[in-house]
Amino acid sequence: MKLAVSGKGGVGKTTVAGTLARILAARGMRVFAIDADPDANLASAVGMAPEAAAAITPISDMTDLIKERTGAEPGAVAPVYKMNPRVDDIPARMSVPAHGVSLLKLGTVKKGGAGCICPESALLRALVSHLLLAEKEVVIVDMEAGLEHLGRATARGVDVMLVVVEPGRRSLQTAAAISRLSADIGIGRVALVVNKVTGDDAGFCEELAREYDVLGCLPFDEDVRLADLKEQAPYDAAPAYAAAVARILDRLETSESKD
Ligand SMILES: Nc1ncnc2c1ncn2[C@@H]1O[C@H](COP(=O)(O)OP(=O)(O)O)[C@@H](O)[C@H]1O
Ligand SMILES: [Mg+2]
Repeated sequence: MKLAVSGKGGVGKTTVAGTLARILAARGMRVFAIDADPDANLASAVGMAPEAAAAITPISDMTDLIKERTGAEPGAVAPVYKMNPRVDDIPARMSVPAHGVSLLKLGTVKKGGAGCICPESALLRALVSHLLLAEKEVVIVDMEAGLEHLGRATARGVDVMLVVVEPGRRSLQTAAAISRLSADIGIGRVALVVNKVTGDDAGFCEELAREYDVLGCLPFDEDVRLADLKEQAPYDAAPAYAAAVARILDRLETSESKD
């Protein structure tokens, strides 16, 4: 299973992604958790100690590796470099283990304005594609925004795009926009997770489920907020939330896309 988690800033993407990774690892799967947000904090959501999480070098900063594999310096608008560098050994060599999850911190993926795709972007694209096409592993990608900047070929490897939204009218627009975009780049299924739901929002969740593929509504949970403050994984410190995420995973495995 290859999952990407997207949505607006602050809605709870990283919290969901980290918790999903822990649940799948606890179920005995080999899980790769890819932090594709330049403002990376997936490691701590998985439960890695803050100092250890901060010490991980993002792949985009591994100058020697990028040069060795692509034949060009990072950041260079090089006239010639390998568009399909070798990456098959990188997941095993460069990922950092945490609670049974293999973490990869990508760093900044340049958007490649003015027709430029920099060497480090070529390497990151190749790496994510490689993982998404691997057969056995579970891959969870915590996205900054859309998947487009990783390229269409990469996006097509994603089985399900989970869009995290908060209750409210504006989230309908987000959901619609991400659904369109995901369909455009060839992602098979787009499903919503409504997060930070309180008692007043039950009606909204039901209404949303009539129109969209809603996998579940996660409660606003004080333990999640406290876990964040205590720098602990919600999987360890917010059992009710983790159980709700596990139900979302079960629904994902047993239900089919709405369209
Ligand atoms: N269900 C929830 N209940 C309470 N707080 C939550 C919940 N989900 C996320 N949060 C909090 O919201 C903040 C943003 O979450 P985060 O996962 O970092 O969002 P994103 O990755 O989308 O920017 C964090 O402080 C997190 O602890
Ligand atoms: Mg995040």
